Amino acid sequence: MVMEFHHLLLLLWFLIPLLYLFLRKLPPGRSGWPLAGETLDFFSKANQGCIHKFVADRRKKYSSNIFRTSLIGFPVAIFCDVEGNKFLFSNENKLFKHWLPSAFDKLFPKSNNKLNTEHSKSLRKLLAFVLKGDVLREYVGEMDEVMKHHLQTDWNSFRRAIKASKLMREEFEEMIRQRKIDRLDSSSGKDFISHALQATDDNGQLFNEADIASHLLGALQAAYGTLHHTITNIMMYLTEHPDVYNLVLREQKAIARLKKSKDRLSWEDLRKMKYSWNVACEALRLKSPALGGFKEAITDVDYGGYAIPRGWMMHWNAHATHMNPEYFPNPEKFDPSRFQGDGPSSYTFVPFGGGAHMCPGYEYARLAICIFLHNVVTKFRWEKLIPNEKILHYPIPRPAQGLPVLLYPL
Ligand code: HEM
Repeated sequence: MVMEFHHLLLLLWFLIPLLYLFLRKLPPGRSGWPLAGETLDFFSKANQGCIHKFVADRRKKYSSNIFRTSLIGFPVAIFCDVEGNKFLFSNENKLFKHWLPSAFDKLFPKSNNKLNTEHSKSLRKLLAFVLKGDVLREYVGEMDEVMKHHLQTDWNSFRRAIKASKLMREEFEEMIRQRKIDRLDSSSGKDFISHALQATDDNGQLFNEADIASHLLGALQAAYGTLHHTITNIMMYLTEHPDVYNLVLREQKAIARLKKSKDRLSWEDLRKMKYSWNVACEALRLKSPALGGFKEAITDVDYGGYAIPRGWMMHWNAHATHMNPEYFPNPEKFDPSRFQGDGPSSYTFVPFGGGAHMCPGYEYARLAICIFLHNVVTKFRWEKLIPNEKILHYPIPRPAQGLPVLLYPL
């Protein structure tokens, strides 16, 4: 009798979790084709620039703000609204962890062979150090100088260099070694590398040259395409919206008028570029460089009455909220006035992500875009060379030919 009772207990021990798993309600949706799942539809919509339709169609079909699908062989829960974004940006490392494709580890190898996801804490620490407010202030004048030079000479040389990740890491390492020597005998200028050389990891250790080089390359990759295409898209919108262009020009001319011709821009000047930044935000809303981000559930997650099993992917999608008419009425329209006053409500406008992994380059990006806009609109007028240039949408939305323009010095 005692034996049977033990057997029953053992049976229940196994059955109850199984029953629980069986009865729990997964988010509505479908897994699509074996292995391929709904990958083709997802990426073909991304390619056509209507990934928000992939989300909106399912949201409507299932009457739910979360749905399940399957992408590149993984079961994925896609979160479609503000609450979903808030949930994903607020529970990192408690319920899920950041997920990156394994290609990242080949592109940006780290000295201790740790995965990039494990390394991202130290990357953020390094970047927080080199991109913090008072350090960024020091960069403004230099960035303005470089931007002026860039606009006078070659617009594209860096693009070719970015292809050679190994070569660049080696070059960076050499620059870092040289900077170490320079620091010994002079009070050399403060830039990204000299700040990085002073940053320490969680154990108070300085970063080694190889890791600084790899982090630097990672940051450049994250920065280059996003900034380059955003600036191109802003130029495109300015040519298409003369009223907006005139307001940007007025704002930037007012700033330029108070400066002597050789003066560099200052931090205070940057704070005055409110309208220009609203224009950039509207370009980022309509042409978000990032599709969104993926997390991996590290435990069974309950959300909105649904169960997301451990190991599933969880995806936030920038376009899902950016193109939702509830948050942005008439979402297809380019209208920088949406960002005036308090601007859009929290978690609706998320081109830089949010939470623990929010883009650490956000402030730097704001500086770079505003400094570029200042120099380009105060020094040139331009005309598009291809009137109806096709727009490519994936991986980053941008004009297909790179927006060739004819520049007229003012
Ligand atoms: C318009 C410009 C930019 C946009 C739209 C952008 C957007 C993003 C987004 C959406 C993420 C992922 C956030 C998440 O997973 O929650 C990200 C991550 C990141 N960004 Fe940016 N970014 C921009 C510029 C920059 C710049 C200028 C830098 C460096 C100077 C930078 C460095 C990084 C790095 C290192 C990460 C990875 C952070 C981590 O995994 O914790 N980004 N960015």
